[in-house]
Amino acid sequence: MSGFVLAIDQGTTSSRAIVFDGAMKPVGTGQKEFTQFYPASGWVEHDPEEIWESVLVTCKAALKKADVTAADISAIGITNQRETVVIWDRATGKPIHNAIVWQDRRTAALCAKLKKQGLEAKFTRKTGLLLDPYFSGTKIAWLLDNVKGARKRAEKGELLAGTIDSFLIWRLTGGRVHATDATNASRTLVYNIQENAWDAELLKILRIPSTLLPEVKDCADDFGITEEKLFGAGIRILGVAGDQQAATIGQACFEPGMMKSTYGTGCFAILNTGSDLVRSKNRLLTTIAYRLNGKTTYALEGSIFIAGAAVQWLRDGAKMIGKAEHSGELAAQADDTQEVYLVPAFVGLGAPHWDADARGAIFGLTRNSGPAEFARAALEAVAFQTRDLLDAMRKDWKSGNGKTVLRVDGGMVASDWTMQRLADILDAPVDRPTILETTALGAAWLAGSKAGVWPKARDFSKAWALDRRFKSAMEPAMRTRKLKGWQDAVRRTLSK
Ligand code: G3P
Repeated sequence: MSGFVLAIDQGTTSSRAIVFDGAMKPVGTGQKEFTQFYPASGWVEHDPEEIWESVLVTCKAALKKADVTAADISAIGITNQRETVVIWDRATGKPIHNAIVWQDRRTAALCAKLKKQGLEAKFTRKTGLLLDPYFSGTKIAWLLDNVKGARKRAEKGELLAGTIDSFLIWRLTGGRVHATDATNASRTLVYNIQENAWDAELLKILRIPSTLLPEVKDCADDFGITEEKLFGAGIRILGVAGDQQAATIGQACFEPGMMKSTYGTGCFAILNTGSDLVRSKNRLLTTIAYRLNGKTTYALEGSIFIAGAAVQWLRDGAKMIGKAEHSGELAAQADDTQEVYLVPAFVGLGAPHWDADARGAIFGLTRNSGPAEFARAALEAVAFQTRDLLDAMRKDWKSGNGKTVLRVDGGMVASDWTMQRLADILDAPVDRPTILETTALGAAWLAGSKAGVWPKARDFSKAWALDRRFKSAMEPAMRTRKLKGWQDAVRRTLSK
């Protein structure tokens, strides 16, 4: 037996592990949700120990389901929720605090202060990012300033920091490797994406000692070997990428102009711009799509914080729908004469508005508005927000203008109604592939190709297969009216 690859997909609400066989097909899966902590308004934390346990359990479950042992696995690929940070003790491996999650807004005041000092342009020029609490840098600064003794210990070299991939690599290798990959580094606010190095000046501004930080490697690289006691045999870790970049790879968006959008908790659209480091004039992010053999491929990214999470809110918070997967059917029954708009700014708004203080709002309710109209509003909000991103991308990057095809993945794309509405609102084709496990597949490909058991990029791209193309079918006048209604709703939601 050969060619098996284990992908670890450590996401925001659950950890997943998938064993792929030599034909790149999933043959065994494990999944486990873990606790979300909301210690204060706008704060979100995870327990790193619970994450670690969930990763071990799901890897073992996936191996068992696939009926293989660790010795059969050629390599591990890791992909992860990005920006979320952990600081841990170098000697014991114990975290000094819960992980601060990417959605967490506790550093909004610090970001505002840095902006007031006129520093945003500097951060953007060097990192491609904006001064928003979303990114890791200010979260690390918060931990150093607020966990008792942390700064002193960090200065003495006793602590290590990293995004979730780094923490997992450290634990999987028994504390032998402290590393990350270029895509995860590019989300930290302290990594210079042009020079491909941690930026001393930005570290100084945020008062982060460089000794805390991991070594930054290519996405397909040697990240060490797992401790034998974990799975019964050591497995090489050969691939790492942040989950949105892994999905870009899994969707085989290797050519400039190719674009994917993943609909999970949030929605993240990534446009491959090749070796061009495109500077956004429309509040998009410039980021690293992947770095292979030392060569960096850049991307423009639009990040929306709430997509599937709005449907979860309808189910768990508002208790209006029974099952998330029924939201499309329900939306299809909505009354066409009602114009209900939901702006899901539950944790502020991401691209292109970047308003950390905005909070969710709903407009256009009538006495007849009910679960169907709410479901439609939640799903349409995802389409409208994607449209905002697409418009910004078209303005920022002229090549390929007007011919955009969007490759989609993530939990929400199973709904035909949602994908049709997405194509209608975008006025562009939406391609749904046969394999929807693109994030895990991307991580597995990095590891499998590095191990030499999976094909190189060109042949991997050929394996991408279309399930269905959704084409725009909405009357232009109706689209225009809806877009206007959406823009109006957003304007009324913004905090300033
Ligand atoms: O930037 C945050 C993103 O990486 C989270 O993705 O799929 O865990 O919601 P997901």
